[in-house]
Amino acid sequence: MSLRRIKVQASRYFTRRGSCILFVILIWFLFYHLPAPPSTQNNTRADRPPPEHRVEDTARFIYRSPFRNDPNVQYEQQLSNALEEIEKAVLTQSEESNISKDRIWQIAKSQKDRGEDSIVFKGKNKDWIYTLVTDKKAVEFLTNELSAIPEIATIYKSYPQNILRADLLRYLLLWYYGGFYADIDVFPARSIKACPALEPFFALTPDGYTKSTHPDISLVVGIEVDEPYASPKFMRDWHWTRSYGLIQYTMYAPRRFSPLLRETIVRVLAHTRQYNGEHTSFFPSLAYDEKTILGVTGPDVFTDAILDTLSSSLPSTHPFIQKSVDADADIGDLISAETGELEKRVTWAPFHRLRDPVCIQAGEAVPNESMGGLCVLPISVWGNGQRHSEAGGFNHPDACVNHRFGRTWKKGWWEYIFG
Ligand SMILES: *[C@@H]1O[C@H](CO)[C@@H](O)[C@H](O)[C@H]1NC(C)=O
Ligand SMILES: *[C@@H]1O[C@H](CO)[C@@H](O)[C@H](O)[C@H]1NC(C)=O
Ligand SMILES: *[C@@H]1O[C@H](CO)[C@@H](O)[C@H](O)[C@H]1NC(C)=O
Repeated sequence: MSLRRIKVQASRYFTRRGSCILFVILIWFLFYHLPAPPSTQNNTRADRPPPEHRVEDTARFIYRSPFRNDPNVQYEQQLSNALEEIEKAVLTQSEESNISKDRIWQIAKSQKDRGEDSIVFKGKNKDWIYTLVTDKKAVEFLTNELSAIPEIATIYKSYPQNILRADLLRYLLLWYYGGFYADIDVFPARSIKACPALEPFFALTPDGYTKSTHPDISLVVGIEVDEPYASPKFMRDWHWTRSYGLIQYTMYAPRRFSPLLRETIVRVLAHTRQYNGEHTSFFPSLAYDEKTILGVTGPDVFTDAILDTLSSSLPSTHPFIQKSVDADADIGDLISAETGELEKRVTWAPFHRLRDPVCIQAGEAVPNESMGGLCVLPISVWGNGQRHSEAGGFNHPDACVNHRFGRTWKKGWWEYIFG
C-alpha cells in the first residue's frame, strides 16, 4: 500500500471518527443541557387522543420488583434501626408529639427554578409555613439533622441526576418533619384544607375556621396509575413498568416519622447501593435509565414499600388482605410456584377503582409491627388530567391539585417537537 493511500484512508478514518464523536457530544448536549421546553397552557396535550386502551381478560394486582429478588436484608435492617434511633432521639429530646406542623415543602435546584404554579401554591395556603428546599438547603439538612447516618448525604450527593436527588429528598423531608409535599409544577385547584378528600384531617368549625383534627394516620397518598388489566402493548405506549402505582409528586404526612416513609427511604438507599454495585457507566449521567429511576427512587419503589409494609403489619384477617386474596382466586399470582402455598398479603386489589378515600388507622396493625396509618385517595383527587385509569379532568369535583406533568425532562422536548 502506498504511503499516499494510507494517508487518505487514515484521514477518512479520522473524519468519520471525528464526526461520530461530534454527534455523540451533540446528542449528549441536547439531552442534558437544553432548557425546559415552553410550557403548555393547562395541559392542552391532554386533548390529544390517548393510545388505544388495550386490555387483557386477567388483571395483575401484584408486581415484584427485580430489586426485591435478593435484597440485602442485613443492610436494610441496620438502616431501618438507625433511622428509628433518630426518631427516638428527636421525639424524646423535644418531648414533642409526632403531629406535624402545617408545613409545605417544595424542591428546586435553586430559587430561580420556581415557576408560577409554585407561587400560586404558596399563596393559596397562606396559613402553612412554606419552604423551598434548594440544593444547598438540602445538603445542610442531610449533614445536620441526619448526621447520624452519613451515608444518606453521600448517596444523595453521588446521584448523577436531579430527579434522583429530588425523589430521595421528598421522602426524607416528610419522614423527618411531616407536612405537605408537592412538585413545583403542581397547581393548587383548591387550598389544602379545602380539599374534600382531606376532610378527616381538617374539620370546619361552626365559625367557619378549619381546625386540624388528628387521626392516627402518618401518610396520605394518591393514585397515579390504575390499569391492572392493561396489555403489555398498552403499558409500553405509556412507558409503564407496571399497571398500577401511587403518586409521589404530591404527598401529605400528617405525622412525623411515618414507618411507611422509613421503609421507602431504606429501600431507596439499598436499591441505589445494589444498582451502583452492579453497574458502572462511562457517562455517569446516563447510568440511570427511566425504568431504573422508577425502581430505585421513584413511584415503583414507593408503591412497593407501602404495599409490603401493609402486608407485614396487618393481621391476616384484615379486609385488605381478604380482598387481595379473593381478587387473586382466578389469577394465582399469590400462589408460590415452589411450595404451592398461598401468600396472604395486600396487593393493588383494594385500591382498584377507588371511589372514596380509604384509611387504615395505625391501630389496625398487629401489636409488634407499626405502619403508622395510611389514607389512599381516589385517582381524581391528585391524579386528574390523565388519559387513562378513569382519571377525571382537571375540573373534576374531587380535584385538589392539577399536575401538569412537568415536561422538564427529556420527554418534554420530544413531545414539544413531535406532539
Ligand atoms: C387555565 O387554567 C386556569 C386555572 O385552572 C384558568 O383560570 C384558565 O382560564 C385556563 N386557561 C385556558 C386557556 O384554558
Ligand atoms: C404517633 O404517636 C401516636 C400516639 O403516641 C402513636 O399512636 C402513633 O403510632 C405515632 N405515629 C407515628 C407515625 O410514629
Ligand atoms: C412482641 O413484642 C414483645 C415485647 O417487645 C415481645 O415480648 C413479644 O414476644 C413480641 N411478640 C411477637 C409475636 O413477636
